[in-house]
Amino acid sequence: MTMKFDASHGLLKEDILSYQDKVTELHSAIRNRTGAGNDFMGWVEWPVSYDKEEFERILKVAEKVKDKAEVLVVCGIGGSYLGARAAIEMIQGMYSDCKTEVVFVGNTFSSTYVSQVLNHIKDKSVILNVISKSGTTTETALAFRVLRDFMEKKYGKEEARERIIATTDKARGALKTLADQEGYETFVIPDDIGGRYSVITPVGLVPMAIMGIDIRKVFEGLNDAYNDLNTADLAKNPAYQYAVARRILQNQGYDVEMFVTYEPQLQMLAEWWKQLMGESEGKDGKGILPDSACFSTDLHSLGQFVQEGKKVLFETVLEVETPSEDLTVTEDPANLDNMNYLTGKSYDWVNKMAEKGTIEAHVEVGGVPNIVVTVPDMKEYSFGYLCYFFFIATAMTCYLLEINPFNQPGVEIYKKNMFRLLGKPGYEK
Ligand code: PA5
Repeated sequence: MTMKFDASHGLLKEDILSYQDKVTELHSAIRNRTGAGNDFMGWVEWPVSYDKEEFERILKVAEKVKDKAEVLVVCGIGGSYLGARAAIEMIQGMYSDCKTEVVFVGNTFSSTYVSQVLNHIKDKSVILNVISKSGTTTETALAFRVLRDFMEKKYGKEEARERIIATTDKARGALKTLADQEGYETFVIPDDIGGRYSVITPVGLVPMAIMGIDIRKVFEGLNDAYNDLNTADLAKNPAYQYAVARRILQNQGYDVEMFVTYEPQLQMLAEWWKQLMGESEGKDGKGILPDSACFSTDLHSLGQFVQEGKKVLFETVLEVETPSEDLTVTEDPANLDNMNYLTGKSYDWVNKMAEKGTIEAHVEVGGVPNIVVTVPDMKEYSFGYLCYFFFIATAMTCYLLEINPFNQPGVEIYKKNMFRLLGKPGYEK
């Protein structure tokens, strides 16, 4: 099993395996797609049912635009943004030697941010991937309008067309209409896969491939997880163990889950996880609030609360067995910083000891439950595996709470108010 789950520091008051009967029933609702929200369960079979021709076309297009992509601008928000960013940062790190730089837009109304992006890319060779299923998401549509204008002025209409790639619905929506009219290269967001499950579709795969990430390996991991985790046997399914542990901890009164990583390049993965859990579970007045922290950095800020503050949270530590890079602490004869006791040790070992000591402090002294999910590394295969692990864990944990994991009715309410204030036709008081 590529990923592991450890509840030995979870302070669980119920036995995970006592949920076996319920899990068996819900496993079949997931795999047979008979549970609530089943019209958005295309991700379940996606590791085998994905469009192979389109996958090859992604590879071809990535190869074609690679040399032109000094900067890849990815325009999208929410499910059409977080997964690609999480993948690229996890796999390539924060300062990789990839010759393409990736910049994200369409995820904010900040005028300063958008202006600074335009200024930053003005003299660079740009490829633009706009991603929107509906084509009407205001942040994305507005940024795309500005970016399209930028591209057409910079390159002329003809060449701009060659440099813009649209990922959208197969038949409907404003972006689809525009892409058809302009003749952009277009990739499809499947009807039955919602935004937060879409990183394994062209939504995530196109930016990953253009950034030089081996998406075949991502799919190997995805496929292995699809097979490995296709068991209702709780003793053998770490994703379901995690799903059940969350429920047990909430039954014990913990309403906040802090997703803890020890790698800065996993911070966007935590953001992706927050959307996955938060949008899937936070409805009908139920759910665990997903939060995140990157240790040891945040031990110097949030650490105090976790250790001694109100006992509202439990931690889910995402442990990485092998870092992408490592270095050894060197000897300093003067030793004025008193760090020589670490001479010859690896940086990653120091990180692991920080993790060990923190779990001990939070659990044994602070009484804060810690559950640990382990992933072998931060490479393509592990990313693909991890996606399926968290997808299926999310489905299970939500079904255990009797929640439909695949809708998000609450996200529309603020939009109506915003549209009214913006004067959008049809939204007058
Ligand atoms: O999960 C969701 O549905 C949202 O986060 C959407 O992905 C996000 O609002 C972007 O929507 P669209 O792809 O239609 O622009």
